[in-house]
Amino acid sequence: MIDAENLTRRFGDLTAVDNLTLHVDEGEVFGFLGPNGAGKTTTIRMLACLISKTSGTAKIGDYEIGNKADQPKIRGMIGLVPDNVGLYEELSAYENLDLYGRYYKVDESKRKERIEYFLKLLGLWDKKDLAAGTFSKGMKQKLAIARALIHDPKVLFMDEPTANLDPEASKTIRGFILDMKKQKKTIFLNTHNLDEAQRICDRIAILNTRLMALGTPAELERSVSGRKTVVQLERVNDAIISAVKKVATGGVEVDEGNKLIIGVGNPEKENPDIMSAIGAAGGRIQFVTEASSTLEDVYLKLVRSE
Ligand SMILES: Nc1ncnc2c1ncn2[C@@H]1O[C@H](COP(=O)(O)OP(=O)(O)O)[C@@H](O)[C@H]1O
Ligand SMILES: [Mg+2]
Repeated sequence: MIDAENLTRRFGDLTAVDNLTLHVDEGEVFGFLGPNGAGKTTTIRMLACLISKTSGTAKIGDYEIGNKADQPKIRGMIGLVPDNVGLYEELSAYENLDLYGRYYKVDESKRKERIEYFLKLLGLWDKKDLAAGTFSKGMKQKLAIARALIHDPKVLFMDEPTANLDPEASKTIRGFILDMKKQKKTIFLNTHNLDEAQRICDRIAILNTRLMALGTPAELERSVSGRKTVVQLERVNDAIISAVKKVATGGVEVDEGNKLIIGVGNPEKENPDIMSAIGAAGGRIQFVTEASSTLEDVYLKLVRSE
């Protein structure tokens, strides 16, 4: 649904986005993660046809950004929740949405239906006649989301939609993103919130001007340290450790006195033998879990290695 090939944007001497290549599938929630100044907003602006690219190509569906004839098609296919919400403060919530609906030439009955649907879904229906300027940050953000969806776009770009929101409002918005996923929308989510990305994204790209990594949250976590099996025992002793070392492909560490952290190349294959070896050496197993580095470890490693 979104295909970028070597997409690049320079501002004078500064390269904001450098040779970005990525593909986002239809119906995917795609997290675009990176520190401030990484080029996330610039990428969204290029993909949403708000600014031109310097080089490379990108397509939304079958339409090419930068190709004049395709721009109206792309605009109709995408919705954007920008980083600065930008509502008409003196207009009511309803009027803000209605204005956008007209702008996108959504006919009146559809407009009414969608405005009501989204305002109810986002818990703003009883505030529909209040001026947007009187809304809290969270309410404005929700209204900006409804606005981005008024013409029923296939692809929704969201630029840090939960930045500066309290946990409750952030949670509503995350829930809403997952609702949109169920409706087969493709969601491109800029965020610097790792926890959020991990919870709701199917795949995550880490950007720092260049693409640093791309994969599912689990793939990214494994990419840094390899897979590890953690076995909690009643007691650990040297006989158990040496028995494990004979069958595990990676190293063995002891943690908190009674936990073995075992490096495994292929846990599905190695774990049964490891458990048998522990049993044969007289070890009594309490818990077995898989440990991996957190997304935060991966992120910090990649972003700091620059
Ligand atoms: N219109 C612009 N003119 C000059 N530099 C810009 C402009 N927009 C963004 N930049 C620069 O491009 C880099 C990436 O910015 P941005 O895409 O906003 O990053 P992010 O959204 O990841 O924080 C930054 O160094 C920023 O200062
Ligand atoms: Mg930004």
